[in-house]
Amino acid sequence: MAASSGSNMGFMLLPVLVFTFLIVYLSPSNQNINIVGFFSSFSKPNNIYAKTNLVSESSQPSPSPILLPSQKKRGIQKIEDGLARARAAIREAYESYPTLDGKFCGTRSHTEMEKRFKIWVYREGELPLVHGGPVNNIYGIEGQFLDEMEGGKSHFAASHPDEAHTFLLPISVAYIIHYIYRPLVTYSRDELQRLVQDYVGIVAHKYPYWNRSKGADHFLVSCHDWAPDISGANPDLYKNFIRVLCNANTSERFEPRRDVSIPEINIPVGKLGPPDKGLPPSKRSIFAFFAGGAHGYIRKVLLEHWKDKDDEIQVHEYLDKKKNYFKLMGQSKFCLCPSGYEVASPRVVTAIQLGCVPVTISDNYTLPFSDVLDWSKFSVHVSSQKIPDIKTILKKITFKRYLLLQRRVIQVQRHFELNRPAQPYDMLHMLLHSVWLRRLNIRVPYQS
Ligand SMILES: *[C@@H]1O[C@H](CO)[C@@H](O)[C@H](O)[C@H]1NC(C)=O
Ligand SMILES: *[C@@H]1O[C@H](CO)[C@@H](O)[C@H](O)[C@H]1NC(C)=O
Ligand SMILES: *[C@@H]1O[C@H](CO)[C@@H](O)[C@H](O)[C@H]1NC(C)=O
Repeated sequence: MAASSGSNMGFMLLPVLVFTFLIVYLSPSNQNINIVGFFSSFSKPNNIYAKTNLVSESSQPSPSPILLPSQKKRGIQKIEDGLARARAAIREAYESYPTLDGKFCGTRSHTEMEKRFKIWVYREGELPLVHGGPVNNIYGIEGQFLDEMEGGKSHFAASHPDEAHTFLLPISVAYIIHYIYRPLVTYSRDELQRLVQDYVGIVAHKYPYWNRSKGADHFLVSCHDWAPDISGANPDLYKNFIRVLCNANTSERFEPRRDVSIPEINIPVGKLGPPDKGLPPSKRSIFAFFAGGAHGYIRKVLLEHWKDKDDEIQVHEYLDKKKNYFKLMGQSKFCLCPSGYEVASPRVVTAIQLGCVPVTISDNYTLPFSDVLDWSKFSVHVSSQKIPDIKTILKKITFKRYLLLQRRVIQVQRHFELNRPAQPYDMLHMLLHSVWLRRLNIRVPYQS
């Protein structure tokens, strides 16, 4: 359903997701990780997807002959051969459609992912800290993703680690904070860091997989504010590890090339999304809207400048109880989405789902899935310094341009839809695809 609903237009209008694999090669002395490529985005008008280039296979460094004695040569070689074929197929799709008027190149990458991608979920560890997570509220994506991968229905779940391209540490940071830091008397990250490091130690000791890639094909998914801090205790250990995070603050060492930014979503109990899609653009009577607490420095500035001051820039600290927050967003043209205590805000997804053009107000925030989505095509960004100019900035956008932005918001909705089981191009598949891309960018050492 997610693949087809409202997306036909998107398929026709928009080529997609082609990835630039620029060479970033770390010398063999640098941990024996072959980084075979990297995608960078440069986009063209009328396309919501970041357009990227591919580096040819021949310009990639040859694999270094490093093999652990315990490693099954055929297993990893087979996997690397499959990945090479996937890269070739994506490149071919890209080359046959060199212009953006061409077909949907990125579907090829998703198709290759559908066809090949296998993830091993480590079995070690016990509930509630491992193999479970919250499925509702703002950290809900943690539990939803783990349940999707461990529920026995996902075809991405490998049945044996030897067939896996990547390895998931099924740890819920939100549950560790919930269960271990209770009562919450300390903000020290020590215990969190120790638990995750112990887990890595166990699987790295028991299996060859962590050591052979130095963690580069391993990942963890967390929406909790503290998740980026797990690396703090031992930066070297996590140097290559893929962190899939909501809290994607580049000032706190979020690394867009290695890590993945995912949306924070507020999942209500008993349902997966908001009740409706909002009004058509011509019926949206509120120019710009925000309601929320003064969390963090950005919101303080926003409220200082705009709270209850302007008819068009409607900024409320707390909404009158009689008013419906979602309904108001669905009646607005622009929805202000300032960072709160952390860079990510569930408002961004709510705005998209309700057809309201997001105005992200943030510094150092890597927006979700921005490796493949070109946010400048369907949202507006305002840095914290420009908060006083919000009205000028938004008023400069012509109605025609607004309609274009709004139409593209509708086009990207499917990428922010949570389905269980997950469906092609929805939020969980976008998450997996971002991990898949990072796996395509490395080659795990093997003997040729
Ligand atoms: C991986 O490396 C660590 C640290 O060097 C070592 O303790 C562990 O035994 C290794 N694991 C395997 C499976 O060899
Ligand atoms: C964070 O954002 C500020 C303000 O835009 C900027 O000056 C600074 O360079 C950014 N830092 C990083 C690490 O990107
Ligand atoms: C991002 O990280 C920097 C550095 O720690 C911090 O000062 C800033 O407040 C963070 N941004 C948000 C919105 O929390």
